[in-house]
Amino acid sequence: MTKSSDNYYITTPIYYASGKPHIGHAYTTIVADALARFYRLVGKRVHFLTGTDEHGQKVVEKATEQGITPQEFVDALDLDFRALWQRLQISNDDYVRTTQARHRVVVQRIFDKLYQQGDIYKRSYEGHYCVPCEAFWTERQLTDGKLCPDCGREVTWLSEESYYFRASNYAQRLIEYIDAHPDFIRPVTRANEMMSNFLRPGLQDICVARSSLKWGVQVPFDPEQVVYVWIDALSNYISVLGYTEEDDSLMQNFWPADLHLVGKEITRFHCIIWPIILMALDLPLPDTVFGHGWLLFDDDKMSKSKGNIIDPNEVIDEFGSDALRYYLLAKVQLGNDANYTDDLFTLVFNVDLANDLGNLLSRTVAMIERYFQGEVHAATAADEADQELQNLALATPAAVRAAMDALEPNTALAAIWKLVGACNKYIDNQAPWALQREGKIERLQTVLYQLSEALRFIGVLLQPFLPTTAESIFTQLGIPDHIKIHTWDSLAEFGLFPPGTVVHKGDPLFPRHLDTPPAEKGNTKGQKV
Ligand code: MSP
Repeated sequence: MTKSSDNYYITTPIYYASGKPHIGHAYTTIVADALARFYRLVGKRVHFLTGTDEHGQKVVEKATEQGITPQEFVDALDLDFRALWQRLQISNDDYVRTTQARHRVVVQRIFDKLYQQGDIYKRSYEGHYCVPCEAFWTERQLTDGKLCPDCGREVTWLSEESYYFRASNYAQRLIEYIDAHPDFIRPVTRANEMMSNFLRPGLQDICVARSSLKWGVQVPFDPEQVVYVWIDALSNYISVLGYTEEDDSLMQNFWPADLHLVGKEITRFHCIIWPIILMALDLPLPDTVFGHGWLLFDDDKMSKSKGNIIDPNEVIDEFGSDALRYYLLAKVQLGNDANYTDDLFTLVFNVDLANDLGNLLSRTVAMIERYFQGEVHAATAADEADQELQNLALATPAAVRAAMDALEPNTALAAIWKLVGACNKYIDNQAPWALQREGKIERLQTVLYQLSEALRFIGVLLQPFLPTTAESIFTQLGIPDHIKIHTWDSLAEFGLFPPGTVVHKGDPLFPRHLDTPPAEKGNTKGQKV
């Protein structure tokens, strides 16, 4: 059986359960969620995976500091991650933890198979190792001869007997694969980086098991050794699909993945180690690995090891989950770095959400209540302005689809906001209050009908991005669940909004924030901690 193009498998990295989730983790997961929801909306069968990476030296160190076991330590953090995903309405279909038995057995089987076929061998090794990043570096890669090139901390010298993967055997095949598959590593700048920094200079064999580690998956035939983090972590993408299990229907239906969404700093693990493991296992490679940019705070990377972290829970407390989703989806171009500041966040909230979208819904519903006791009446003859609004609404789904297919959620949201803007302009130009005053009731009914229908389009289109808001729009418009006019297919026609529907004014979607940003009120959000 080969995977159907109607099936879509998307993954986030599995996040280290060594510190609380921060806004950088939220960013990747929100983008993946918007894509997963979008492809579900257009009718694909989606499998969306996220989870936590729970092994490694850092976990042992942190657990020891707290006087608890590594398992207790990761169990507590796992709850934090899951709670955040729930608050952010993340619609993952599965959630993997590398300490789960279903994952461990697959890692062991993979390791065993690669050893049996000669791809893994044992030898002793000495090298520079960065404990926070859990990575070995060559002399050449170190900054100033002693610092980790990723986090800038001092590396330590480590010597031990370890297992190695014969990466060098696969280098040429991988180079050819990348050359022949321009969509495999995106954006293209990352593909160039992989080629020039890692592949063309020649691949060294990769350490895949270590005796100095105690917290991890045991090598099945050598209990002194533990599988090193990357082979353990990367295997999650297939361990959850039941690779090597008798029932491999998930594997059949969803592998290869359509998209591994990752931050740029781990692109090389996903574009070099992972593909060669897959080649060795004789499995197809994922369609795309997308290495997105970093969210920066004061132009510096936010990360646990640097300690300058923004807590997404505080942003949600203050502004709501959809506001955070909107900011990260609309104001960051996937692939580029972006700055996060409280001031910018508040501005975007007030302008795009409270003013543009929130006001559009509240004034439309308020006018229908004021002029027609809440009832939406049928439209009569459409004039040029009506036609223009209708044409834009009908063109927007294709624009959103093209943007999502191109992995540009910001462009998709810009297209939706173009429609929001057109609706607001339509209200200003049509001046329903004047139509009422002049007794032009039929025209007034038509204008309010056009707006209700355009808002239905906006509600449908917003579902993948702002799920709570989309639901509120439907509720306030009075669109009952059983009428199937919130589906993607229903956007093929303008005019499906049923006349006679009664709208209900609700709370404002985004109450304006006149407040000073939380950081200035003594809250630590956005400050270096
Ligand atoms: N456990 C590994 C991944 C294994 S995947 C097989 C790991 N975990 S992590 O907790 O450090 O998470 C890294 C991911 O979190 C990044 O790749 C990125 O997706 C996200 N981000 C972490 N900090 C970020 C920013 N400051 N900005 C944007 N995304 C960031 O690496």
